[in-house]
Amino acid sequence: MADLAATRAATRLDPHRLRTDFPILSTANRFGKPLVYLDSAATSLKPLAVIEAVDGYNREYSSNIHRGIYELAERATGAYEAARAKTARLINAPEPAEIVFVRNATEAINLVAYSWGRRNIGRGDTIVLTEMEHHANLVPWQLLVQEKDGDLEFVPVSDDGLLQLDVYEVLLHLRPKLVAFTHASNMLGTINPVRHMVEMAHAAGALVLIDGAQAVPHMPVDVQELGADFYVFSGHKMLGPTGSGALWARRELLEAMPPFMAGGDMIREVHLRRSDWNEIPYKFEAGTPDIAAEIGMGAAADYLLDLGLDAVRDHERELTRYALEVLPREVPGIELYGPAAEHRGGVVSFNLPGIHPHDVAQILDRSGICIRAGHHCTMPLHERFDLAASARASFNVYTIPEEIDALAIGLREVVRVFDR
Ligand SMILES: Cc1ncc(COP(=O)(O)O)c(C=O)c1O
Repeated sequence: MADLAATRAATRLDPHRLRTDFPILSTANRFGKPLVYLDSAATSLKPLAVIEAVDGYNREYSSNIHRGIYELAERATGAYEAARAKTARLINAPEPAEIVFVRNATEAINLVAYSWGRRNIGRGDTIVLTEMEHHANLVPWQLLVQEKDGDLEFVPVSDDGLLQLDVYEVLLHLRPKLVAFTHASNMLGTINPVRHMVEMAHAAGALVLIDGAQAVPHMPVDVQELGADFYVFSGHKMLGPTGSGALWARRELLEAMPPFMAGGDMIREVHLRRSDWNEIPYKFEAGTPDIAAEIGMGAAADYLLDLGLDAVRDHERELTRYALEVLPREVPGIELYGPAAEHRGGVVSFNLPGIHPHDVAQILDRSGICIRAGHHCTMPLHERFDLAASARASFNVYTIPEEIDALAIGLREVVRVFDR
């Protein structure tokens, strides 16, 4: 037992130490207040390893990939393909060729909706989504079913922020062609029982797309173990650069799908009146990609794997538990949304009665505290809870309990300013 305890202790994150990896955390705002960054669900901060990987490409071997015959271009191609292999390792994809680089999770979902969707969804076909989807995993499917005369159905969310799986089971009797849901909610923080949900969907004959934008940065994700068909995520939320992201899909699905965008790099042979497609994943990577960003995403994948995703999850679970305990105790009248810490990632959405979340965010900003305010691209979910908007604090590997204390003090100040 002692050995186990020692191993666990040795694999715990030391957020105070690793904060020195993030240069932005030593900056201050215009009032001289140090940065308290609690908006990681919108985008994460970037460690030096990522900044240097991007910088290294631009300074030392900036050149195009997959076409140069000279050493510099071969180095760029090597780094880009190494980033693909690192990204594959992060989610335990069976092979790097199943990773398609895209700009973000939104582009990955659109790729599937256009390429797979337009070939496989027809009149009267059903796609099952949930009420907690980010607009990125809703609007592309709306466009698809509008065009094809198909239907959307939605798994409802309970008052405590969990998906109602009994209704999901009933919806699966409609024999949907596709089920698409988020791994973790960016508003409620809910971590969905995705493995179980995939099994249920497959038993009903549906394919499954999982939106992993809020999961990959925060917990171990193994696409083989989950058994999903499509899995999407963004680099910029997992400590990587903006403009990087990935779609993972099983080889046979990618091979059967037509290209999404056409042009250079995605072809094998081009004639004036017809062309043949390149092999996967290049078939889906038309034109010059954001080479530096994807190389940076590879560095971010390495950084996370070095930290250990179990340790990341433990750290963020503890922070969330702390926030759920401290905020209601210290902030009079605060209303919190979402389930208990066991079922959620490091996301805490809330409202102060009678105070608009924009005002909350603006007043916190004076103290150097950054939070998100608005609908967080989940308008239907806000409607479900009868909310026009909410404020949201979200955490990452560099978040420390002292920042949650600062948030609590800041929120007390907001309440004082509004004199309630
Ligand atoms: C759950 C979820 N899905 C998809 C997205 C879209 O990510 P991106 O804007 O990087 O495409 C987000 C972004 O907040 C998200 O939280």
